Amino acid sequence: MVKITDDMREIVGRARGWALATVDKEGIPNVVPIGNAKVLSDTEILLTDNFMNKTIENIKANPDKVAVSAWDWETVQGCQFKGTARIERSGEVFEEAVHLAKSKAKARMTLLEAPRARAELVARIPRIQPKGAVIVTIKSIYMTSPGPGAGKQVA
Ligand SMILES: Cc1cc2nc3c(=O)[nH]c(=O)nc-3n(C[C@H](O)[C@H](O)[C@H](O)COP(=O)(O)O)c2cc1C
Repeated sequence: MVKITDDMREIVGRARGWALATVDKEGIPNVVPIGNAKVLSDTEILLTDNFMNKTIENIKANPDKVAVSAWDWETVQGCQFKGTARIERSGEVFEEAVHLAKSKAKARMTLLEAPRARAELVARIPRIQPKGAVIVTIKSIYMTSPGPGAGKQVA
């Protein structure tokens, strides 16, 4: 069974950002940077839809053609997940996405040195409201870490 391992959780847990790739009905790819993402379960990645447009259209057109990549700059290790996406706009997982978006914004605040930039972000946090949760169910996993195993399928 395809399963996200503890090692993979560690790598993606240290990722500063993720890449989410989808494909439209003509087969044209679309890849976007995503800040709000995490491992939801052994087989699922959660991403928050705050600003997605083409991405959502593509998921509706081709839900089983989705790839997610995340990497750790410190250790130069990365994982790529391919699978099927669904969108939820209410319920438990959606609420988790709302919580994720707000907690990521709070974490970003600690990186801001300028008091004014911090104050602006603090003021914005209550208004952060994802439109939806994108849940990718993983069907295959590849390691992207440089070296002999680069790009190899591991699950
Ligand atoms: C650093 C960074 C982080 C981002 N994080 C998110 C995010 O967590 N969720 C989101 O919906 N959009 C996020 N965006 C915006 C998306 O990358 C993208 O602009 C949006 O999905 C619209 O593109 P689309 O029409 O191709 O879907 C982020 C953009 C940047 C540059």
